[in-house]
Amino acid sequence: MDALELLRTEHEKVRALLRQFEELRAIEDEDERKAELVDEICYELTLHTMLEEEIFYPALRAAQLDADMMDEADVEHAGARELISQLEVMYPGDDHFDATVVVLGEEIAHHIDKEEGEMFAAARAAGIDLAALALLLTARREQLEEDLSSPASIETFEPHGGSRRSPRPPN
Ligand SMILES: [Fe+2]
Repeated sequence: MDALELLRTEHEKVRALLRQFEELRAIEDEDERKAELVDEICYELTLHTMLEEEIFYPALRAAQLDADMMDEADVEHAGARELISQLEVMYPGDDHFDATVVVLGEEIAHHIDKEEGEMFAAARAAGIDLAALALLLTARREQLEEDLSSPASIETFEPHGGSRRSPRPPN
């Protein structure tokens, strides 16, 4: 699998999770599943954007891909991170919870379309070593997954510092 195929697979995973959220939205009394799903969406997106920013984007910039396109991608990632940080302190049922997930999903869908379209085409045309890049992405992902699951990092990385497990007391 080359780097573009690998990133496409990650994109599809996020798309599938967002579709699951759309299905859950219509059902009542699914707050716990919604919370878990949104945790998963935030986790996957955080990992994925880190991988792209640490490894993929620098390789594209080094190959002289259009700087405006790369800058816009950076800003789109920053926008996603902002919404993710809002979701990390929210719980299903909170004011604007669903809306925040939906807007995050719309922005990510737009971002992914641009990446898989013009950015991936330009990366291929630039003759970047996509097989080598895939190895770097895979190794870094494994390392990040390990870091994020180690006890020392739970405070910093687990959504809500684990507090979503104990939602507000019942009314
Ligand atoms: Fe991206």
